[in-house]
Amino acid sequence: MLNGKKIVLGITGSIAAYKAAYLCRALIKKGAEVQVVMTPAAKEFITPVTLSALTQKPVVSEFFTANDGSWHSHVDLGLWADLMLIAPATAATIGKMANGIADNMLITTYLSMKAPVFVAPAMDLDMFAHPATQHNLEKLRTYGNHIIEPTTGHLASNLEGKGRMEEPDTIVNTIDFFFNSALSKKKILITAGPTCEKIDPVRFIGNFSSGKMGFALAEVCAERGAEVVLIAGPVHLQTRHPNIQRIDVISAEDMYREAMKYFPKMDAAILCAAVADYRPAHYAAYKLKRQPDKPLTLELKPNPDIAASLGQIKTKTQALIGFALETDKEWTNAREKLQRKNLDFIVLNSLNDEGACFQSDTNKVSIIAANGSSETFPLKSKKEVAEDIVTWVL
Ligand code: C5P
Repeated sequence: MLNGKKIVLGITGSIAAYKAAYLCRALIKKGAEVQVVMTPAAKEFITPVTLSALTQKPVVSEFFTANDGSWHSHVDLGLWADLMLIAPATAATIGKMANGIADNMLITTYLSMKAPVFVAPAMDLDMFAHPATQHNLEKLRTYGNHIIEPTTGHLASNLEGKGRMEEPDTIVNTIDFFFNSALSKKKILITAGPTCEKIDPVRFIGNFSSGKMGFALAEVCAERGAEVVLIAGPVHLQTRHPNIQRIDVISAEDMYREAMKYFPKMDAAILCAAVADYRPAHYAAYKLKRQPDKPLTLELKPNPDIAASLGQIKTKTQALIGFALETDKEWTNAREKLQRKNLDFIVLNSLNDEGACFQSDTNKVSIIAANGSSETFPLKSKKEVAEDIVTWVL
């Protein structure tokens, strides 16, 4: 059910626009409140009167209302909504969304949207298959939007054959699942990025972790309704979702302290950070001077193992998920870590797999559970890998 969920339905000028009436009806039947925003072209295919009658709300299409000239606030709509659904979405609208071309009310609303956005493309199959459209859809995915893949149209007897908008009932079920998945209102702790261990005021020991995998996990969990606490080492990444509380830290000790503080209140923790195993035993308050003729020896001492520490205090109702980045004997090492740290499952990535390296936008993982079951996935975007991991958490 979608009781009380506020949905902005964006309708664009495709022949599939008539299906928006079914969509409206199905969303409302499940208890949602729907506000329609139409592009000017959409009005050629379905009248605003039909939609306002179904939704019991005036349809928004122009920047100003025709009768009294008052301004429609796309910012207010962006704050009001729990979700925006653009269905049908034409190639033109997808292109404008991908590039921020805000020349109508639907695009300005999209750019102001604070809630998750779902896009159901609808177009001629050649248009859908064109690299320009595919490139724009890829951009939308990187913005965190959800693409509801079109189906094979009845005219599409050939290979590519995709372009027809997904059926309204399936779209509504996708949204229903999104809101009502088991992650709704769950509290999830995520660690991400590298840690930096200071040697002196200007130098540190670090690693190449970008934080992208952990941030993708935080976005996916938040989009599925979880309240996320994201403890991030030093990274150049932004968080977008309002349900993500971000705590920036520098060193492993800082990360350990924050993780131990928050974990008791959590339902699950996903430990994605590349935590430095050692830190300098002595911090030099002044910049170390170069002594050209002498080697420099740094003494290192072990950092706390956050995963193992959380594993020790974990209760029966909490789930603990770790990562293992391995270069050799991958499965043996990962299984050993799973046990030693008392994890429920471990996500294994091997540096030997192409596309699974630091900084990359893709990853290739296997998931191994404490009960022995496992699954190996193909190379995917980190967002898709995050979806797979979350599905396992569920
Ligand atoms: O032992 P190893 O560092 O390979 O274990 C990796 C897993 O343990 C990851 O989930 C990582 O985030 C976590 N870890 C941690 N604290 C450390 C070292 C690793 O939480 N000090």
